[in-house]
Amino acid sequence: MIFDTHCHLNSPELYTRIDEVLESAKKVGVDKFLVIGWDKESSLLAVELAHKYKEIYAAIGFHPTDIDGVSEKDFNEVMSHVNDPKVVAIGEIGLDYHWVKDPAQREKQKEWFIKQIKFANEHQKPISIHNREAFEDCLKILKENRPLYSGVMHCYSGSVELLKDVLDLGLYIGLDGPLTFTNAKTPKEVCEEVPLDRLLVETDSPYLSPHPLRGTVNEPKNIALVIDEITRLKGISKKHILEVLYDNSCKLFHV
Ligand code: NI
Repeated sequence: MIFDTHCHLNSPELYTRIDEVLESAKKVGVDKFLVIGWDKESSLLAVELAHKYKEIYAAIGFHPTDIDGVSEKDFNEVMSHVNDPKVVAIGEIGLDYHWVKDPAQREKQKEWFIKQIKFANEHQKPISIHNREAFEDCLKILKENRPLYSGVMHCYSGSVELLKDVLDLGLYIGLDGPLTFTNAKTPKEVCEEVPLDRLLVETDSPYLSPHPLRGTVNEPKNIALVIDEITRLKGISKKHILEVLYDNSCKLFHV
């Protein structure tokens, strides 16, 4: 059994042929999917999919590059679903300094990140964190606004040194396609270092296709390649890895 803890089946590349995508994922053992929103429409679609398919769960939230023009009304409309039993996390939320260079805009990202962490805490939900080239500010915010119901550093891109800070916050580490890239020295070191009981596996599909499928549209079925690499790096039996990853995911998201 496999839980893809971060996928965007609500994106057009996958949504338009979702039955086929789910079917091929199930063939490799994926039986749970956490579909992550990034704006109003995608969050609402994640909830809709979670209602339609029993194996799908939803995360709702506003991604740091998608906060422009979002009104309080939009925020409230999305977050009104927080008590839905299939909504298991707030995400993806965080900071993205790769795409956003303007200081005022970065301040706005911080405000939205904090606002959504507080919302998750008030509603007893874990968070799914997007952090790109903003580690220092991201950790500062998380230390000052601790996620009380835990969460995951999705597609962890930090160093082994920063890992301790993230683990001290009680967070999980999400690994995906980049772990399999032949030149991915740091993610491989991180994988070796992270305690097994804090590790999650994800695809971020349709993005981040693992090696040797780089550049193609990613799908949850490709999670098998990521798991194989985790197994190789950890040097533990695949059976054990699968059990632990699944247990971690169910524990974090209370499913
Ligand atoms: Ni994502």
